[in-house]
Amino acid sequence: MEDLLQSAATRTTAMLDALLPPSSGGAKTLYDAMRYSALNGGKRIRPFLVLTTAALFDVPETQALRVAAAVEMIHCYSLIHDDLPAMDNSDVRRGAPTCHKQFTEATAILAGDALLTLAFAALADPATHPDATVRCTLITHLAKAAGGAGMIAGQMLDMAGEKQTLPVADITTLHRLKTGALIRFSCVAGAMLAGKATDDALEKYGDALGLLFQLTDDLLDVEGDTTLTGKPQGQDALAEKASMVNALGISAAKKQADVLRDKAIAALGGFGDRKKHLESLVHFVRYRIK
Ligand code: IPE
Ligand code: IPE
Ligand code: MG
Ligand code: MG
Ligand code: MG
Repeated sequence: MEDLLQSAATRTTAMLDALLPPSSGGAKTLYDAMRYSALNGGKRIRPFLVLTTAALFDVPETQALRVAAAVEMIHCYSLIHDDLPAMDNSDVRRGAPTCHKQFTEATAILAGDALLTLAFAALADPATHPDATVRCTLITHLAKAAGGAGMIAGQMLDMAGEKQTLPVADITTLHRLKTGALIRFSCVAGAMLAGKATDDALEKYGDALGLLFQLTDDLLDVEGDTTLTGKPQGQDALAEKASMVNALGISAAKKQADVLRDKAIAALGGFGDRKKHLESLVHFVRYRIK
């Protein structure tokens, strides 16, 4: 699995490098900050999902890579803003100073803004797909997943949930939005590139995997090793986040992770042999240490 992830990461990073503005010109510092936060490692789970699910529909690799890079730009922007002092106030990301620590807070905000908009420019380019209707479908769905009815709504609920005791159902909703929405999109973008509206099984897989991913992120915040996760431990407790570990306790959170793992795998039932890599990813996410 590590090899498969690494290969997807390498190909995605090369595409990101090609799409990001070069480090030159009057706004060089902005471009440096964008490159710093987008080319600095990361597991590239979302690109892996785009590439692997697109392969199920025989989508050409360049098209899938452009969508993978667009999703990763949104993800990297969300991390830059998530780490800002006004949000999670975090100094370390992917084992290095966060964008606002390496540059300035203003530069970090602007680098996030520019990554967000560049993602949509990348999708709108005819190189992503010759059919403008397909490009519009991708843009519409990514905008919904990333925006005020998706990831940003989740971030808002996350901030509002600080110092609150939220019921598990509310935390599940929060996770489905802040983390699940982008992961779900990553799972169905390949179907869209193949001219379909969506794919119900991959939608279900993405939903369970997204919830599992944030649940294990919450677990890593408590039990993880910062040298492996590349981010400080105990941030959720410090900010009194309404995390799943807070709500359930560690042992029940792990049981819930097993339930989500089984749900994600069950959703792949119809894919026969072709589901192998998507199934391995579920196990990776369930037992991840980074
Ligand atoms: C961290 O995402 C933020 C969450 C949505 C939980 P990742 O764990 O995918 O971060 P990178 O991209 O690998 O650094
Ligand atoms: C971040 O969730 C979700 C998004 C960036 C949308 P967290 O705040 O839990 O992510 P980490 O733990 O800082 O990576
Ligand atoms: Mg956060
Ligand atoms: Mg955070
Ligand atoms: Mg976290």
